[in-house]
This record gives sequence, structure tokens and C-alpha cells, in this order.
Amino acid sequence: MSNTYQNFIAGQWRAPASGEHFENRNPANTDELIGLFPETGPPSGAGGADIEAAVASAERGFEKWSRMPAPERGFVLKKAGDVMTERKDAIARDMTREMGKVVEETRGDVQEAIDTAYYAAVEGRRLFGKTVPSELRDKWAMSFRRPIGPFAIITPFNFPLAVPSWKIFPALLCGNSIIWKPSEDVPLTANTFTEILLESGLPPEAIQLVHGAGETVGKALVDHPEVPGISFTGSTRTGSAIGETAGRMHKRLSLEMGGKNAQIVMADADMDLALDGVIWGAFGTAGQRCTATSRLLLEDRIHDEFVARLQARAEALRLGDGLDSGTEVGPMIHPAAVEKCERYVGIARSQGATVACGGTRATGPGLEKGHFFRPTVLTGVDRNHRSACEEIFGPVLSVIKFESLDEAIDINNQVEYGLSSALYTSDVRSAFRAINELDNGITYVNAPTIGAEAHLPFGGVKGTGNGHREGGWEVYEFYTETKVAYVDYSGKLQRAQIDVDW
Ligand code: UN1
Repeated sequence: MSNTYQNFIAGQWRAPASGEHFENRNPANTDELIGLFPETGPPSGAGGADIEAAVASAERGFEKWSRMPAPERGFVLKKAGDVMTERKDAIARDMTREMGKVVEETRGDVQEAIDTAYYAAVEGRRLFGKTVPSELRDKWAMSFRRPIGPFAIITPFNFPLAVPSWKIFPALLCGNSIIWKPSEDVPLTANTFTEILLESGLPPEAIQLVHGAGETVGKALVDHPEVPGISFTGSTRTGSAIGETAGRMHKRLSLEMGGKNAQIVMADADMDLALDGVIWGAFGTAGQRCTATSRLLLEDRIHDEFVARLQARAEALRLGDGLDSGTEVGPMIHPAAVEKCERYVGIARSQGATVACGGTRATGPGLEKGHFFRPTVLTGVDRNHRSACEEIFGPVLSVIKFESLDEAIDINNQVEYGLSSALYTSDVRSAFRAINELDNGITYVNAPTIGAEAHLPFGGVKGTGNGHREGGWEVYEFYTETKVAYVDYSGKLQRAQIDVDW
């Protein structure tokens, strides 16, 4: 069948040893079958051969790729950025077909990958170490960065190109090889990305693409003794399980997990701006971003008027196929995501909240064959309600009232997550207090909780991460090990800390 895809292992596209495949369907229209992708089996069965072959190949790929000078590696990534630029529209359209978000957003997703490619390419001429004075005469002291080995890259559905690019480009630039397990919901984009890297001159064994389930393929890579590094974006629960293994096996691990991001609106804010911000932050990507706004904290004086305007705007949002012009909100990724939204609306109601708008699946012309959920605003939410504390990952916004900035900061900080936050205000003192006191990896002032730029560090605190950052300059620390070298050219034994008489 022409739309049956393969894994990329040991420099070749090959069918899974299991002989099994899974379906990839368009979430806006489930009649559309995008393709069949390898269901790589568990390591205990036929899948073991595929996983072992992928790891062995990644080790060979590492030997070759890590020896190439970093500027030359950067040049390969620059070409990948160029190819993505040329094919931006086609990639974006395919991405919308397989995961639903509107094509303007998938174009942004491709752009984020292009930006990351170009940043990484130039980093090939930097990868700075440091040269510092020795405490002894005629001796040099310096540090430099070395690659680590094969990295397992485990990525989610919501940014099918951008999030993998945040991991794969820096990992490669630093000289590591890759074994990539993409989300089962977006295998086509993973296939395309792999093809682009190969076309751009990446030595074939530097990348392995292994499709399949997290519990089988993802876990096998995490457990594998010859895979020294892992970068994972997904749920906090899975991240904790990976963290246990990585801790026991002394693996390097970057975790990017859940969020429960709040937009805080002070009474002195520009209301139109704050309204635009929350509509985009809460309902863009149908709320399926780690950075999505899922709590709206309103100063009590403006609450009623703001909610009325928000309700009108949310109700007017046009749902549909992300490829149709005029669509503002696409489908959810799969039925379970819709059910989760429904379940949380039920929980919110039972805890005393009011459904101001939405709250149900969306039906009607053009929506019958997709997984649509109406943009939902819950009011009368208490800061301790489950809908105000737990990640829903859908277009469900909980509105909470507050009386002072102190209280808003406290509400923002009480949840287990800490990715992004936004404060709308015209008071510079409030703005700087928020920047300093909101317990998140990213705080926006007068801008929504979504929209991080590729050249700044991205990540969160508490249950959102484990201290690493993606993007920007910091990620290059994660994908390399620091090595220090001392060169003593005095011609005699000089003892540090001892032969120092000053
Ligand atoms: C994510 O939701 O996993 O800041 C990533 C943003 C995007 C990236 C989101 N640039 O919303």
C-alpha cells in the first residue's frame, strides 16, 4: 500500500519486524486515513530486533558524526532549515491534516523549527568553552564541550515539528546521534523531518526513527543501557517514571511536562488587549499546548464585565477543519482528549462552578466527523477546584476572582506546575513584582501565556520540568558534557594549592 510508512533504522527505511502497523487519521475528518505507520513491537518480542538495531546503528552514527567539526555539522542543519523554508506550506498542510490545528499555526510550528535550525547552525561556530588563568605559572586551564552519545528523543503531538526540532537540532549540533520515538498521533511529520535531515546531508546512522507506543518503544529506549541521554516532552506522570529509571541508570535527562498556566488581569490593564490575549492563549491550538492559558485570574472589580465580553468572543469562535479558511479553532487530537474535557466540565459543575459557555462537544455541519470540543469558560471557580489545579489540555478555561496582586500571585503559585504565566497591567511596579514573584519558567507582561521564541530558554519549574531548559543557549549545556584540560608547560612538578606562596 502506497501510504504504508516505515521506520528508519541502520541507514535504511524498513518495515517493523512485528509486521504490525497503526492508523493515522485526520482528527477533523476521521474518514481520511493519512497512512499506516510501524507498530514497533516490545523489546521482548519481535520489536527487540528493531530496537537493538536502532541503538547499535546510533552508536556507529555517533562515532562518525561526533568526529565531524561542529561548524560542518552546523552547515547540515542550515541546509535542513533551508529545505523547511522551501517546503513550509506543504509541511504545514500535512501537519494540519494529521493533528488538526489551523494552518496558520502549523506554519508557525514550521517557522519555529526553521528558527531553531538556523540558531543551531550558527552555534556550530560557538559551542564556547572557557580559558581561565591557572593559579600556577606556565600552566593553562580551559574547559570545552564534548558530545555524549545516542540520545532518545520522545516527543508529543501538539508541536509535531517545533518541539522535536528543539531537541534534535541542538543534540545533533553538539555531535550526538538520535533515536527518535515521535507521538503516534503525528508520525507523518516525523517521517518528513527525518527525510529532510537525510536530504540535507546528515549521515544516515546519526538518526533512527522508530514509531510505536510509548510503553513499548519509548520505554525500551529509556531502559536501554547504551542510550546515555533522554529528552522527553509529555505528561508529568510519564516524566516521573522516566526520571526514576534515568536516576537509577545515571542517564542525562531533560523533562518538559505539564502546565496550568494563568493569565492575571489587573483592573488597571488594557481590557481589549487582555481579552485578545486570553482568547489566543486559551483557545489557540484548541488549548492543546503546554503553555495554554487554563486559568484566568480577574481582579474582582472587572470580573463581570470581562467575563461577559469573553463569553461573547469565545462563543463566536469558528470551529472547523484547520485547512478551511475562516477556521479559528481546530479539533482535539483524539476522542480521549474530548472525553477528558467533558469529564473536567462535569467535575467543575459538581464542585460548584458555572459553565458560562461551551462545555460540550461541538456538532453541526462540517464537524460530524471530527473530535471537536466547544471553547469553554467556567466561572465561579474556586482556586482549589480540580479544574483550577489539574492540567486538562483542551479549550477549557477556569475563571477565578482575586482582590489584590498578592492574592493573584499566591493563586498562580499554588499549583503543582510552573511553566508560564501572564500579567496584564499598566503599572510598572506590578509588572516587575510579577516577573520576580510568579513561580514559572516564563512570565509574560501584557502578552499571553503562549508564544515563546526559539532563541530563549524554554521550560518550567516544579512539576513542569527537572531544571533543564530547551531553546536558546542553555540547551547546548544539556547535550554536552563539560571537559576540563590543564596544560603545564613549566617542565617541573607544580602542585595545585600547595606550591602557591602568595
Ligand atoms: C508546547 O506547548 O509544548 O510558547 C510548546 C509556545 C510555543 C511552544 C509551545 N512556542 O506556546
